[in-house]
Amino acid sequence: MQDGKLYFVTGGAGFIGSCFVIDTLAQNTGNVLNLDKLTYSGNPHNLDSLGPEAKARYNFVHGDIGDAALVSRYLNQCQPDAVVNFAAETHVDRSIADPSAFIRANVAALGVFLETVLNWWRTLAPEKAAAFHFLHVSTDEVFGALGPDDPSFTEQTPYAPNSPYAASKAAGDHLVRAFHHTYGLPVLITNCSNNYGPRQFPEKLIPLAILNALAGRAIPVYGSGGNIRDWLHVQDHCSAVHLALQKGSSGQSYNIGGKSEKTNLEVVRNICLLLDEMRPDAGGSYQRLITMVKDRPGHDFRYSINCAKIERELGWRPEHTFAEGLRETVLWYLNNESWLASVQTGEYRRWIAAHYS
Ligand code: NAD
Ligand code: DAU
Repeated sequence: MQDGKLYFVTGGAGFIGSCFVIDTLAQNTGNVLNLDKLTYSGNPHNLDSLGPEAKARYNFVHGDIGDAALVSRYLNQCQPDAVVNFAAETHVDRSIADPSAFIRANVAALGVFLETVLNWWRTLAPEKAAAFHFLHVSTDEVFGALGPDDPSFTEQTPYAPNSPYAASKAAGDHLVRAFHHTYGLPVLITNCSNNYGPRQFPEKLIPLAILNALAGRAIPVYGSGGNIRDWLHVQDHCSAVHLALQKGSSGQSYNIGGKSEKTNLEVVRNICLLLDEMRPDAGGSYQRLITMVKDRPGHDFRYSINCAKIERELGWRPEHTFAEGLRETVLWYLNNESWLASVQTGEYRRWIAAHYS
């Protein structure tokens, strides 16, 4: 794509943001500025695969989206065509342990960020201002939980967030929407389901299960293991975000889902079977390590996304099946054990010890 645009990405050192940065620099001629606070889940090594040509079009800024002076300086300097906001606190269990960190990052800092972008956007010439997009990456968790036979979430499903994380993301979405309605800021919101793929921080189910299996540790499954998630490959997510930026209508939200609903027990069993094949263990199948543990408080039973709108209006389709995507993902972790070792810092070990003890 010869777009030559400047993308102001936030949270681009995290799991999904780094995939978006890598794909953007690979697929078009644009430039990326990545503003990231480098919290425990932000990792500059997630961008190590950028080659010299891509690196020449990439800049990293260490900072907080809530730092108005810093953000304003870089907006004025680089005059972006789009802001793509991935920055957030993202782990549901951590939000249960410490909700205020989520309110600070996902609501308060986002509010400051929106105001800073708005103030800069108002200085633009009319043509540039009209072409600009503020794309906010959100989650299906804002819609609450579904029963086994309920219809999937659509863009019209009322918000009913259940965890402090989901509530903070819902509040953020409302702020984004309000900045469009009140001030005319051209915004897009995407609400996607559970992502999986390379470089996901191993506090989330899939990388945690792989890492624990490889270390011979228990693979913890909450409650009955019957909770259902709708798994979306991270590259399919990023291609949807790109399409929304290219063709989305200002003020609209788009649901993005993988059409791969699985129970948690199915997911961890599949991971064990793949590991049995790729890295057989003398002690027998990795399934012996699956351990049912105390349930997550307020654990949402099922998420399921109806993505008919983005398919119909923007022509998006997920390209990965869960079976192929999970196989590739397991293989990536097997081939990147040094990455896995490098993210298990003191902070990671502290969280695991506190949460699973
Ligand atoms: P992640 O935790 O891997 O990465 C988050 C990134 O944001 C990190 O690099 C972190 O350093 C950065 N960050 C946090 N607070 C910041 C701040 N105040 N200023 C600047 N940078 C900050 O998360 P992820 O899984 O990549 O999620 C990215 C986005 O996608 C989030 O908004 C999340 O809510 C949303 N989302 C994630 C999933 C999923 O399954 N992972 C699904 C739906 C939506
Ligand atoms: O649906 C989108 C959301 O998906 C994103 O908005 C969040 O940022 C992302 O973290 C994810 O939230 P979940 O809570 O669904 O993801 P997690 O990987 O933490 O858990 C997936 C399922 O697995 C969930 O039902 C809880 C369960 N689980 C999780 C962990 C960490 C376990 O059974 N054991 C575990 O140890």
